[in-house]
Amino acid sequence: MLMILSAWASVLPTVLVAPAKHMWTLATSQGFLITLLSLSWMYLQNFNFANPLFLIDKISGPLAILTCWLFPLTMLASQSKMRLEPISRQRAYILNLTFLQLTTLLAFSTPDLMLFFIFFEASLVPTMIVITRWGAQERRLEAGMYLAFYTMLGAIPLMIWITKFYYTHGSLLPTLTHTLHITQAATNYPGLFWAIYNAAFLVKLPMYCLHLWLPKAHVEAPIAGSMILAGTLLKLGGYGILRTSPLLQENNLAQTLPIMLIAILGILATALLCLRQTDLKSLIAMSSVSHMNLVVAAVLISSPWSYSGAMMMMIAHGLTSSALFCLANTSYERTNSRTMILLRGMLLIFPLAGTWWLIVMLLNMGLPPSINFVSEIIIMLSLFNWSPVTFLIVALNLIFTTAYTLYVLWATQRGPLPNHIKTLFPYQIREHLLLFLHILPGFLLILSPVSII
Ligand SMILES: *[C@@H]1O[C@H](CO)[C@@H](O)[C@H](O)[C@H]1NC(C)=O
Repeated sequence: MLMILSAWASVLPTVLVAPAKHMWTLATSQGFLITLLSLSWMYLQNFNFANPLFLIDKISGPLAILTCWLFPLTMLASQSKMRLEPISRQRAYILNLTFLQLTTLLAFSTPDLMLFFIFFEASLVPTMIVITRWGAQERRLEAGMYLAFYTMLGAIPLMIWITKFYYTHGSLLPTLTHTLHITQAATNYPGLFWAIYNAAFLVKLPMYCLHLWLPKAHVEAPIAGSMILAGTLLKLGGYGILRTSPLLQENNLAQTLPIMLIAILGILATALLCLRQTDLKSLIAMSSVSHMNLVVAAVLISSPWSYSGAMMMMIAHGLTSSALFCLANTSYERTNSRTMILLRGMLLIFPLAGTWWLIVMLLNMGLPPSINFVSEIIIMLSLFNWSPVTFLIVALNLIFTTAYTLYVLWATQRGPLPNHIKTLFPYQIREHLLLFLHILPGFLLILSPVSII
């Protein structure tokens, strides 16, 4: 683990000393190399590694690998736009992304709750810099403000609780403390306690009602920001809930019912909202919220089965939504527009890209053999086990998801070409490679979904 962390840290000097011509190539290839090394968590250590400094287990391992995997892909994705900028700004961009990579990996792999909290918050800083410095429009500052305020206000109760936990139990290592019998002063409102304690994670995830920062941040962020935000930063929230749940007092579902209701209505509401979006990026962001609310519902059920579903959903969603943002970005780089009505008829010009759109949208919808489907089914089965009515409501979500999938495909691929589109430069091999590498892990995981749960 330390080896891989130092390998990531070594990207920093590489970028600092690399000649301008080879900087992107070097950073990308180094990223791929380290990602290959990081697969050793899966194959050599079998997600079972703990020492006082690092902890890689079934919850953090897959997410850590996902984090490593996405970094070289962000490098691939942001090249064409960034090459137009002065070289010092390009350097600062890669440095900030590497720094973000380090903080996220540390947050996933540290066993200590306080350190987890610190890295969880530290990842906010490079994210904000990337959004507010390299965003496309004026409103990026507003998006950065939303991001910072939502996250930091949510984090206050968590910090108070962590401090109190340390005072009463003398340790913040979940590996040590979850075997202890935790005697907490029983609160009168355990559901409310659960929500407030988890507020930091629910904001990050984001739960419906706390999600307003997300579409803004996604719309304003540059491509690498969007990819990392959807791919790993949202997962920090889910990881936090899964990681700390053994430390909390047992809840039964009757107590957390209001949160469950919000999550389930959120799944439906955001899927419906997707149908009314005109902006491609904010549609993808809304569909992320819908998928993440399924994760909230799954962790509220809190059975081993639903936890597996939540884990799988996070991995599957990390790959597909990142791929969707890449696709949206390829259109954006060509037309400078995210409005779907101005992007019609792409199938006529870019048939191969049309295939990518189809594959990725179908994965996002949860087409049967994919892990997206498996995770959705696992979560829905555990919901059914709890209450058949909820299952019916969530099943409606399938219809809405199909509807907005069709809507996106229709709006971007079909129809007459808008008149203003005169010249578009063709797809590069880099972009095809980028999409292929997003889809590849998803297809490989179909062969063995158990390896990540
Ligand atoms: C991130 O970007 C800012 C603004 O360009 C720059 O000043 C800073 O040094 C960068 N951070 C890192 C860790 O490189």
